[in-house]
Amino acid sequence: MIELYLDTADVAQTKRFNQCLPLQGITTNPTILAKSKQGLNETLKEMQDALGGKPRFHAQVVSTSIEGMVEEARQINELPYDMVVKIPATETGLAAIKLTKAQGIKVLATAIYSAQQGFLAALCGADYLAPYVNRIDALNGNGVEVVADLQLLLDQNQLPAKILAASFKNTQQAMEVMKLGIEAITLPVDVAAAMFAHPAVEPAVAQFGHDWKQAFGDKLSFES
Ligand code: E4P
Repeated sequence: MIELYLDTADVAQTKRFNQCLPLQGITTNPTILAKSKQGLNETLKEMQDALGGKPRFHAQVVSTSIEGMVEEARQINELPYDMVVKIPATETGLAAIKLTKAQGIKVLATAIYSAQQGFLAALCGADYLAPYVNRIDALNGNGVEVVADLQLLLDQNQLPAKILAASFKNTQQAMEVMKLGIEAITLPVDVAAAMFAHPAVEPAVAQFGHDWKQAFGDKLSFES
């Protein structure tokens, strides 16, 4: 089954969606945390309370050198949660991914804008690959096509890396990549909400209520 994440640091929204969706956990990035004005430690603590159980958290390094990323990854991995360390799939990042994986730490290669870049990260041992679907589209590329090509390369080479598709602005983009059979996806809260919000749904449910009340008043179904 696909792993479903929310791409957010918003604890209230996480509580809301955890009630109605089978969330695997949360993904964050430095921009999301900066906007929330709350650091990683406090955010993870509150997210753990909000989600309960054993959620998986994806948190990104902010170091810029190979050694810095590897050490930061080690420290993130020491946090008392199920952590996946996000490392950008740059030249420096790929080197850090190789070294971090040698220590047995779970890694997500992030900031993926092309299939070949994601493929190299998978060869370096990344457990998850995060292609940025909407950002690719916004650059006049085709995010869905990048995900499809990347999945093909993973399959042909029997690589175990999972695509965790990221960066969505609408449900259509999310649907298109899910139809490719990817193994994980992270949605911002507005796109997650739009997944079950069709303009016809509420009127349909209201009509059921109206018809029922007319015939049976306040009785519940089993009382009728
Ligand atoms: C995931 O790894 C990224 O942090 C995130 O999904 C990017 O999303 P955005 O393009 O909406 O910023």
